[in-house]
Amino acid sequence: MFQSLQPLPPDPILGLSAAYRADANPSKVDLGVGVYKDANGNTPVMRAVKRAEEILVASQNSKAYVAPTGAAGYNEIIASLMLGNTLKQFLSDRRVTVQTPGGCGGLRIAAEFIRHANPDATVWVSDPTWANHIPLLGSAGLKFKQYPYYDHSTHSVKFDEMLCCLSEVPKGDLVLLHGCCHNPSGADLTREQWLAVREVALAQGFTVFIDLAYQGLGDGLDADVFGVRLLAESLPELIVVSSCSKNFGLYRERTGALTVICETAEAAAAVTTLLASAARANYSMPPDHGAAIVQTIMENPELSTDWDFELKEIRDRINSLRALLVARLQTAGVDRDFSFIEKEKGMFSFLGVRKDQIQTLIHKYSIYLVGSSRINIASMNEDNIDYIVQSIKAVL
Ligand code: LMR
Repeated sequence: MFQSLQPLPPDPILGLSAAYRADANPSKVDLGVGVYKDANGNTPVMRAVKRAEEILVASQNSKAYVAPTGAAGYNEIIASLMLGNTLKQFLSDRRVTVQTPGGCGGLRIAAEFIRHANPDATVWVSDPTWANHIPLLGSAGLKFKQYPYYDHSTHSVKFDEMLCCLSEVPKGDLVLLHGCCHNPSGADLTREQWLAVREVALAQGFTVFIDLAYQGLGDGLDADVFGVRLLAESLPELIVVSSCSKNFGLYRERTGALTVICETAEAAAAVTTLLASAARANYSMPPDHGAAIVQTIMENPELSTDWDFELKEIRDRINSLRALLVARLQTAGVDRDFSFIEKEKGMFSFLGVRKDQIQTLIHKYSIYLVGSSRINIASMNEDNIDYIVQSIKAVL
C-alpha cells in the first residue's frame, strides 16, 4: 500500500528551518520561520511564562481530560484580550470562544464550521496571504478566491482594488483578513480602511473571518485589534482565530482560540455545540499546558504586568530592527529605497528581490528566506545584520 508513495516537497516555511539546520556555514542566518529571536539569537521563554510554569507544577493536582472547548477561564481571557471588557460584555451570549491547538487548530475548526454552515462558501483570501492558509483551510474542503492586497511596486496595500473586489463578494462567502501584522507583507490596513471594509461588509452581507496571530507585536495590544473590535461591534457575525504563539512565545505549546460572534444568543448556543463536535472529531480536546500558562499569567496582576512589559520590549525591538535594517542598507550604499520596511508591522516584510536573487541569498550566502522574498525581521541582531546587508547588496 505504501510502496508507490512519493515524497512531498518541503513546506515553504518550515522546510527552510530544516535546510538552515543542515547548513554548515557559520555565517548562516534563518530569516524564514516567524519566530522571535532576542539580541543573542535565542527564542527565550518569556519571564512570566517561566513563573507560571513553576506555579503550575506546584499547584496542578490533576491531568484529567479537559472539555473539547478547552478551559472556560482561558477562553474568557482570550476574549477579553481581543475585544476588551466593554465590548465583550456588550456581545454577551452572542459570542462563543473555544480553546484550540494553536491558531492552526482554530483555523481548521473554523474551516469545518464554515463548511457545515455553508458547504458552497468561498473564502476570499488576500493576495498574498500566509503560505499555510490555503493548504490548512483547503484540507477541510473550502474553496478560495483572492482579493488584491499588496502592491509590490509601491510596497503598500492596493486598497482601492481590494475594496472594489470586496464590493462584489456575495452574502454566504467569507473574507479572510489579517487582524494586524499582515503575514507575509507587514502592510496593514489603516483605521480608515478598516472603516471602509466594515461598510462594504455591511452592504454586501459577507462574513468576515479574521486571523489574529500577532496581537501585541505591531503597535500594542489594543491598537492591534482596532479592526477586530470595530467589526465585532458592528457586524452581525464575525469569526476570529487568535494565537498565543507569538505574543506569549508559546509556539510549541499550541495555544490558540476560535471566537464566533453570532446574530443571536440562540445561534451562538448552536455554534458552541458544532465547534465542540468538530474538536471532538479532530483531536478530542486541545492540549492544556499553554492555555493554563496564559490563564495563570492573566489572573495574576504581577505576572500579567511583567508579560505586558516584556511583550512591549519585543515589539519595540522588532520596530527598532526595522529602522536599523533600513539605515544600514542606506549606509552600505544600497541603491534602492527600502524605507517601506520601517513603516510595516510585525515580524515580516517582503525584501522585494527576484527569485534568482533569493536562491543566491540562500545557496551562496546561507541567508534563508521564504520564496516570496518574505524575511523575518525578528531574526536579525547586531551580529548578523551587516552580513545580511552586505549579502543583499551583493545580490542586487
Ligand atoms: C510563519 O508564518 O512563519 C509562522 O506563522 C509559522 C508557521 O507555522 O508558518
